Amino acid sequence: MPPNPKQVVGARASDYVEDGMVVGLGTGSTATFAIRKLGERVRQGLNIRGIPTSEQSHAQARDEGIPLIDFSEITRIDLTIDGADEVDPAFNLTKGGGGALLREKIVASASQTEIIVVDETKLKDRLGAFPLPVEVTPFGWQIARGCLEDLGCRALLRTQEDAPFVTDNGNHILDCAFGRIDDPPALEAQIAAICGVVECGLFTGLAHRIIIGKADGTCEERTRPQPLS
Ligand code: A5P
Repeated sequence: MPPNPKQVVGARASDYVEDGMVVGLGTGSTATFAIRKLGERVRQGLNIRGIPTSEQSHAQARDEGIPLIDFSEITRIDLTIDGADEVDPAFNLTKGGGGALLREKIVASASQTEIIVVDETKLKDRLGAFPLPVEVTPFGWQIARGCLEDLGCRALLRTQEDAPFVTDNGNHILDCAFGRIDDPPALEAQIAAICGVVECGLFTGLAHRIIIGKADGTCEERTRPQPLS
């Protein structure tokens, strides 16, 4: 049986991590393989410091013995490895299926290089089939929902065990079914302007490299083309 594509890309991405780096540690079932591999390398002598993007990746990294730091000690991150729910040809992403989008976006925006690890099912010609997660404040989230629906989606409050899902930051998530997103940067700006929205799961202009795991156990790497100056 071919190896799990998520495991293949997680391990491949960890090859980009070098001694002395500050490394952003992503969240989800793909990023977890990268953290596991980094743990192995740390136990073999690799010297890195990690910044987790969720309580889940914090706990895994701690168990793996990866030294952790926070933003009080650094101003930038050398490299981050994270997953995604959808990736389009322009390297726009949908993230937040696991609810960690706010910390993931803060870490991505502070990273010199953001590597996204996905299996090939995440590649889409256009974003939007996966409902876009939007993190909102518990106070008045209904108002934000109305504003989001005015942008052309159906917004559902995410629940867990019959109660509203609570993020690591104490907020809620609205999963916004747009069906198709024609202009991700424009929609990201529109959503950011809504009062009560903390952050949305559209990541535009943040991913530098995509590592794609194939069903046959191979992987393909793509680098974002540099904009013409
Ligand atoms: C976490 O909130 C998400 O952004 C994940 O990075 C994303 O959902 C990908 O997760 P999987 O690797 O589990 O598909």
